[in-house]
Amino acid sequence: MNQVRVAVFASGTGSNFQAMLDAENLACDIVLLVSDKPNAPAINKAKAHGIATLVFDPKGFPSKQDYESMLIEKLRVKSIRWIFLAGYMRIVGPTLLKAFEGRIVNIHPSLLPAFPGKDAIGQAIEAGVKKTGVTIHFIDEGIDTGPIIAQEEVSIPPAVSKEGLAQRIHRVEHQLYPKVINQLIQSEG
Ligand code: GRF
Repeated sequence: MNQVRVAVFASGTGSNFQAMLDAENLACDIVLLVSDKPNAPAINKAKAHGIATLVFDPKGFPSKQDYESMLIEKLRVKSIRWIFLAGYMRIVGPTLLKAFEGRIVNIHPSLLPAFPGKDAIGQAIEAGVKKTGVTIHFIDEGIDTGPIIAQEEVSIPPAVSKEGLAQRIHRVEHQLYPKVINQLIQSEG
């Protein structure tokens, strides 16, 4: 078994999470899947792999600071070193950021700084550009503004549908995220 323990945060499908689970040589142990959505398909993917899940309802807490403090406690109990966001649809607040400074990473479906925020794929189609891509970056207090770790281009064929482009982007994401995770873990020694 590997030794570095990591958590993945996902609000939705979890295809990137699945790609990490399927990666042959992931240099860490994914020991926790955190979700803010009780019906997120990512949760069942975790269960199918015997990975612990933590599902929380942000509305059940007085503030972001309160639910992030709860998360920090649970992450510490599990000795989590890195947090990888994979379709986690919440802005990480200063409480969690400070506790895991430089160790929270996100994947975004555009070549940042182009098309930050929601529906980056739709934004790219709307803008009529010929290429978009995937960015993996550290999280900071902004929306998709943290230091970039890796980027890969994806071309946009003429008249492609949003679903078609999403598929092209996902294919790249599923290769790139496990690769970058390994680089980060290995760079720590
Ligand atoms: C990915 O496209 C990722 O870049 C973005 O959210 C999407 C999550 O997809 N942050 P999935 O849940 O991993 O399938």
